[in-house]
Amino acid sequence: MIEISGLTKEYGGHRAVDGLDLTVASGELTVLLGPSGAGKTTVLRCINRLIEPTSGTVCVEGVDVATLDPVELRRRMGYVIQNVGLFPNMTIRENVAAVPRLLGWDKRRIAERIDEMLELVGLDPERYGGKYPRQLSGGEAQRVGVARALAADPPILLMDEPFGAVDPLTRERLQREMRHLQARLRKTVVFVTHDIDEAVLLGDRIALMRDGRLEQHDTPEALWRRPANEFVRRFFGENLGLRVIIRYCLADVRLKPLEEGATALPRIDAGVTLKEALAELVGRRARALAVVRDGAPIGMFDFDVLLASLAEEGDGACS
Ligand SMILES: Nc1ncnc2c1ncn2[C@@H]1O[C@H](COP(=O)(O)OP(=O)(O)O)[C@@H](O)[C@H]1O
Ligand SMILES: [Mg+2]
Repeated sequence: MIEISGLTKEYGGHRAVDGLDLTVASGELTVLLGPSGAGKTTVLRCINRLIEPTSGTVCVEGVDVATLDPVELRRRMGYVIQNVGLFPNMTIRENVAAVPRLLGWDKRRIAERIDEMLELVGLDPERYGGKYPRQLSGGEAQRVGVARALAADPPILLMDEPFGAVDPLTRERLQREMRHLQARLRKTVVFVTHDIDEAVLLGDRIALMRDGRLEQHDTPEALWRRPANEFVRRFFGENLGLRVIIRYCLADVRLKPLEEGATALPRIDAGVTLKEALAELVGRRARALAVVRDGAPIGMFDFDVLLASLAEEGDGACS
């Protein structure tokens, strides 16, 4: 658990962070979201002590980080930034091995861990291990950045706009992979972005910041259903509902029983999100879709099913 209390950081009289209170539960991913200059990066750097706050505290598992050795502290927190910051003169294997080496792991354990991490982020160790960072695409380099941050199995992961510098298609793929990864690993993650779709897809909770202060810290769905104030409502705009449905799967909603003639309907797999299903309805100008699982139709999806599924608050478990 990360507990931030009364955190303030001043730069020449300007408060970049202004009395922030925020708790991130263990195993949860909280997104720090907000306009540029809101203080998101400053908060992240106070957590791993790349900078020292003017006042206030950050506690990790009940221990004030100000009492810990900063270098030691940073080894226990994975840190992923935009453009990764891979060591250019080291191979991919050496990059991923960096922290385990500092921690004095034996060679065999490090070698196994490198393979495991590269596979985890979808890179073939044989093919990529001996390459240098300049030989990778932006998306591949970001994957290595994530593998390196996870190598020593830190309980905490800090990510600052990690997918901000890659093309939109690659970004989407990395976001989906991150969601699967987090569903498996359940790290305590603080993830900075200014991208609303990314925040809604990845965040168990979103902490919306403005001018160094917290406006609301809630699940994406709660931000949509119960915005705390006018700023929150305006920031997300009218289509937050349309964004939130990316968190739900067709498999999670109560479908309509198959009617006669359903075999003629366009088919859609039960594993897709409600957002994709809605896009399919509109795109195909269809009245309904036949939902299939393992190739067999299991029910029908239409606008009524969508509206009924929104009647109650869910938990966004689809991954
Ligand atoms: N080292 C610094 N010196 C002076 N001002 C800074 C420094 N770092 C950040 N700031 C200022 O603090 C505010 C918050 O910055 P930052 O945390 O980087 O915002 P965000 O990550 O939300 O875009 C901005 O107004 C920025 O200009
Ligand atoms: Mg920033």
